[in-house]
Amino acid sequence: MARKKIIAGNWKMNMTPSEAVALVNTLKPLVVNDEVDVVFCVPAIDIIPVLQAAEGSNIQVGAENMYYEEKGAYTGEISPAMLTDVGVKYVVLGHSERREYFAETDATVNKKVLKAFEHGITPIICCGETLTQREQGVTMDFIRQQVKIAFQGVTADQAKTAVIAYEPIWAIGTGKTATTAQAQEVCAGIRACIAEVYDEATAEAIRIQYGGSVNAATAPELFAQPDIDGGLVGGASLKPDFGKIVNYK
Ligand code: PGA
Repeated sequence: MARKKIIAGNWKMNMTPSEAVALVNTLKPLVVNDEVDVVFCVPAIDIIPVLQAAEGSNIQVGAENMYYEEKGAYTGEISPAMLTDVGVKYVVLGHSERREYFAETDATVNKKVLKAFEHGITPIICCGETLTQREQGVTMDFIRQQVKIAFQGVTADQAKTAVIAYEPIWAIGTGKTATTAQAQEVCAGIRACIAEVYDEATAEAIRIQYGGSVNAATAPELFAQPDIDGGLVGGASLKPDFGKIVNYK
């Protein structure tokens, strides 16, 4: 069975609630495409207004982070039940910016992944190497470690529904997209890693996105690769260009 493409915007720390509503209203008619899952991953405070603005459209809403405890004394955090209560279906976990600035580790990402599945939220699990790691030739070793730890304790049935976003850190926000060949090579490597950890059926089912300076010009070739099932899009998801990315064909 062919995997359905998933194209997600990652707004990062952009858009006030009123700006968010205006952006959804602009993008709503542009991102119509039944062949693709379209997800807007937005700041926590924007989730409810974005859900309301997106009502009746094909836009699904995701969070950019989530904590791994149910509730309690964790000032500033968002719980899984808070997300599901309002209808959030996806959560970005382990983005490199969270790893770099907010001390996320493979171990905390794993806890969050397990918690997301427990609550029926689909995790978009991010991985990706630094430029130094690429130059040192350890890209695949590093990513295999990130992926294997993120999936510890995850069942094959859960893993089949997960999304992995391969985002080389040197390509994020730099305008420097990985070449199609580089992106395909790593996404295929991630799929092989999932096949080793689980089985071929799980590897065939799991969706793997590419992220890092995706734009309307680079999306068609990237998304045509056999192991690239869509994209996680930062900067370009805040512009009408996102409609072109969603309708990349
Ligand atoms: P970018 O961000 O598209 O702006 O490079 C991608 C991401 O960090 O998810």
